[in-house]
Amino acid sequence: MTRKLRTMDDVLLDGREVLVRTDFNVAIGKDGVVNQDEDYRISAAMSTIEELIQRRCKVMLLTHLGRPGEKGGNFDLGPIRRRLADLLGEEVRQIDSLSVTRVSAVIAGMEGGTVALLPNIREDEREMSRNKGLAEELARMAEVYVNEAFSVSHRDQTSVTLVPTLIPSCAGRRTVIEYETLSGLMDQPSRPYIGIVSGAKVETKVSIINSLLKVVDKILVGGMVANTFLAAKGYCSSELHRPEDIDEAKKILLKADQQLVLPVDVVVSNQAKNIQAKVVDVKEMLQQIDGVWDLGPKTIELYLEICQGAKTVMWNGPVGKFEDPVYEKGTYSLAEGLSGLSAKVVVGGGDTVHALEKLRLVNKFDHVSVGGGAMMALLEGSRMPGLEPLFVKDE
Ligand code: 3PG
Repeated sequence: MTRKLRTMDDVLLDGREVLVRTDFNVAIGKDGVVNQDEDYRISAAMSTIEELIQRRCKVMLLTHLGRPGEKGGNFDLGPIRRRLADLLGEEVRQIDSLSVTRVSAVIAGMEGGTVALLPNIREDEREMSRNKGLAEELARMAEVYVNEAFSVSHRDQTSVTLVPTLIPSCAGRRTVIEYETLSGLMDQPSRPYIGIVSGAKVETKVSIINSLLKVVDKILVGGMVANTFLAAKGYCSSELHRPEDIDEAKKILLKADQQLVLPVDVVVSNQAKNIQAKVVDVKEMLQQIDGVWDLGPKTIELYLEICQGAKTVMWNGPVGKFEDPVYEKGTYSLAEGLSGLSAKVVVGGGDTVHALEKLRLVNKFDHVSVGGGAMMALLEGSRMPGLEPLFVKDE
């Protein structure tokens, strides 16, 4: 059941010091620039930030970028600050420390209606583990907390779940849209309702398929997820898959044979054995292939035909290794076909959205979620710890 979130209309905001937890966890190019076709999460937060500027708030933006505890990666927020400044058309100040004294001094010197970016919150290791001390420090920096970070609201992390319990808090404009749209898919979707589940992270997708089967009329699969089901059916070797994924796929095939639609043709290859990318019927798949890298044209046609009869479509995950031009066709043709449907189409997942951005198709869909893991967690019926403190009480 969709619950009611406190919104930016429900708390006193005008002229106040506002901490906005954002999720600007976006790809940064080797040239240190956030490309226009990778900035969806930043642009999606604009309506909230612009409204706070208009309401003369002192806006403190707080984000994480990557997982700084892990090796590699670029965790510098400079490119994000520059992209924000471009989108807002005004200066965004970088605050270089999370010390309460330092932040308070900078904020005291700021005028109402201006914006500052705080350091990458995950550089403070207390962020990842619900730390009361860090939460209190962050809460002392501001009068109000706004969650404009739907895409990390499935994580129980200090700045996401604890800070909003300490000061007046609400959901940002985009967070409300995300929650209401996605919960609506669980409540009363117009039928037929088709789910397209794809992508590389099979272990998470298998449990999502199990939950979605209770709500959708059909599930169409692509990417590594399809690969696993095809292997479970014996069309190709299961050696490349975790045995537990194959077992789970077999169970799903047994109980949901009528609901689950598998590819009829796929693009395979094996560079080591000099088998070039080629389209094959799934029943004629070669055992010596090194993987299924894309869906074939007949499968895309079949999937689009099924979706044409739908009233609601939810798509998460590219259906092939689309970052390689040899295997981009399936994902791109599916995106183009879905963008022309009259059904309500909801799309999510970082890579899927990136594909839409590349094709300039984002605006052609009813809803393109900023969330990947968060979207699927919500659709799976999991608790969203970041949203819990923001629901209106007494429900
Ligand atoms: C995401 O990219 O899905 C969110 O920013 C969450 O990031 P995480 O998976 O590193 O917690």
